[in-house]
Amino acid sequence: MSADLSTTTRARRAAMVERLEADGVLKDSRLREALLSVRREVLLPHAYVRVSDPGVDPIEWRLLDGAHPDDREEWLDLIHSGESVLLQREGEQLDALVRGPVTGGHMTSMSTYGQATVEALQTLQLGPGQRYLELGPGPGVSLALAAAVTGPRLAVGVERDGPMAAFAQRNLDHLGVGAQVIEGDALEGHEARAPHDRIHAGIGVPCVPEPWVEQLAPGGRLLTTLATRTPSWPGQLLVTRTAAGTVEAVLRGRPRGYRPLLGYRWLSTLDHRTRIKADPGTARPTRLAPPQDEAYGFWLAAAYLVPGTVRDFHDHRRARGRLVGRRRPWRRHRPSPWAA
Ligand SMILES: C[S@@+](CC[C@H](N)C(=O)[O-])C[C@H]1O[C@@H](n2cnc3c(N)ncnc32)[C@H](O)[C@@H]1O
Repeated sequence: MSADLSTTTRARRAAMVERLEADGVLKDSRLREALLSVRREVLLPHAYVRVSDPGVDPIEWRLLDGAHPDDREEWLDLIHSGESVLLQREGEQLDALVRGPVTGGHMTSMSTYGQATVEALQTLQLGPGQRYLELGPGPGVSLALAAAVTGPRLAVGVERDGPMAAFAQRNLDHLGVGAQVIEGDALEGHEARAPHDRIHAGIGVPCVPEPWVEQLAPGGRLLTTLATRTPSWPGQLLVTRTAAGTVEAVLRGRPRGYRPLLGYRWLSTLDHRTRIKADPGTARPTRLAPPQDEAYGFWLAAAYLVPGTVRDFHDHRRARGRLVGRRRPWRRHRPSPWAA
């Protein structure tokens, strides 16, 4: 890497950290040091940007190559912006991508947006010397940050996509943080290095796979996005194992969550539209206005207490709770060994 690039990326990391602190997101001093030291340009050497408007099919993309002078500034801005960086289209090989326009396909791997990564690692209370397992590490940004905190040879990721696992391992080796990526199905956890002090799922799941809990060490913490009965609000589940071995869990409603594991996609309220149109039910006025959209915990609880209730955020004409009948929260679009 040229001295110029090294200087400019150091300054951009410092600005990114400053923003995270000013927004009240970043509080952990070890994570702060990790964010300042992990060179994102090594882990995110290219990035897709979406060119076409939402709803346009096939989607038009543009691939930025960080090594190309014409893409350099835009790429540097993007990878330090805190936004999710799109890395892989339709499970493609990642060693011979060509910069420029690309048509069609969907993104299968990306880095997580910065705020979510910082919040997750802080919720996990990650510290030096802990054994850290990341399920679905993608390009390895959160894995690298974790490894910078735990120390070398303690952070491992299980990635299902072969080309992405190889790409991430190569870049992590180049970075020199001592993190390992194993190709495999995250639903199995990683028995070979269990028990783990911290488990972080970079994917959403319909329910917590048993191996994850079994592989959690006493005093350990596990954090995952959980699909819930309602389409609009993912849950965030924090599982802890006490020193005595008892397992406890707290479920919180959240505005955003990690994308579901490969083979699934979120079911949105839009997916209910046809059914609502065919069977709109009976309008029932209520004396009180519904709680705020931001009352995530309330809406999450309501979905369980009154099964079938769906809050339709997109229905601006009559933004009310709607009873649309039972529906599984996930849509599976290709066969998966997961029994939902
Ligand atoms: C959004 S990325 C995680 C990004 C990461 N947190 C970061 O910031 O660099 C999620 C990854 O999970 C992987 N994945 C999805 N389902 C999986 C599964 N069942 N087992 C292992 N990896 C999976 C995807 O291939 C993708 O690379």
